[in-house]
Amino acid sequence: MAGLAGVSVRTLHHYDEIGLVRPSARTPAGYRAYAPGDVERLREVLGYRRLGFALREIAALVDDPATDAVAHLRRLRGLLEEQRDRTAAMVAAIDRELEARAMGIRTTPEEQLEVFGAQLYDSIGSAYPATRRTEPRIAARIWQALGDARTVLNVGAGTGSYEPPDRDVTAVEPSAVMRAQRPAGAAPCVAASAESLPFADASFDAAMAVSTVHHWPDPVAGLREMRRVARRVVVFTYDASSPGWLQRFWLTRDYLPEFAGLLAGWPSLADLTRAIEGRAEPVLIPWDCADGFFEAHWRRPEAYLDDRVRRAVSVWTRVGPDAEQRAVDALRDDLASGRWAERNRDLLALDAAELGLRLLVA
Ligand SMILES: C[S@@+](CC[C@H](N)C(=O)[O-])C[C@H]1O[C@@H](n2cnc3c(N)ncnc32)[C@H](O)[C@@H]1O
Repeated sequence: MAGLAGVSVRTLHHYDEIGLVRPSARTPAGYRAYAPGDVERLREVLGYRRLGFALREIAALVDDPATDAVAHLRRLRGLLEEQRDRTAAMVAAIDRELEARAMGIRTTPEEQLEVFGAQLYDSIGSAYPATRRTEPRIAARIWQALGDARTVLNVGAGTGSYEPPDRDVTAVEPSAVMRAQRPAGAAPCVAASAESLPFADASFDAAMAVSTVHHWPDPVAGLREMRRVARRVVVFTYDASSPGWLQRFWLTRDYLPEFAGLLAGWPSLADLTRAIEGRAEPVLIPWDCADGFFEAHWRRPEAYLDDRVRRAVSVWTRVGPDAEQRAVDALRDDLASGRWAERNRDLLALDAAELGLRLLVA
């Protein structure tokens, strides 16, 4: 068995002693005898080990009665694909850096960090908990849409802001920084991406995704995956396809038109809804929204001058420091001169605003 698996006999003995892979039988001479089920378990253990999981984490994964051999294979496949993509991105970044050096070009700190394949939320995620939390009125809509689902998969779960407390939740989150910030006692979290969910078909009563779909490299593929693994799907996202959407919010209209560039090529709301075979419902944003997402401070414009507010919203990092500085300077000037108030007088009478946020339900 050690020869087949490419590990030492000592390793197998150790796995046996700690209860990780216990061979089902012994030969009359006292040798360990591995049944097909033991081999399967050993393969899972070695797969997770190769991915860098600690033995204690692996024990929890392989002992989970809700995960069968196929689900483990799917999960391992997803994680390996993710690792492969990260490695490919790292090779490409190193090539770019080598090329730049050969041409005598100095790269910026951001470009140099790219070499380590730092994903967006691994670099900005630590600023997230400062202003991002559950907005109870939006949570109520999401939880109502989950219906009577007992088992819920939360995709792109982050720190778990909208996870229903009264159901059996499993989280999926690709960023190690975000996973590490999940509170003690939060639902178990699997390192994977929406586009390749490591679960068998119809494993959950419902799957939810909140403020995350716009980060997925392939949103339609991710939504189809949610549909595959769950009978019900609930997604809180953004409609960037209705005409004049950029004009809907004063921040993008008057200060940050670069926002449009971030959503270039983004599927239409109809495409997103079709991917889950569902419908879209508008979600109005209360004026005192507790979760500091991009649109949250629509009636509290001074908040956008606060660096902590901006650092917890990826849009500001993605538009780049020049656009960010220009937008903040212009907003500060307009607030001081009264121009903002003059242009947006109507908003002050509203308690909730329609800014293109949508709940997709299937
Ligand atoms: C704005 S946060 C939202 C987190 C959480 N759902 C919430 O509402 O607080 C977006 C999350 O999507 C995750 N994400 C990025 N790409 C992803 C992908 N391909 N699949 C799943 N999640 C992804 C990020 O790592 C990040 O934690």
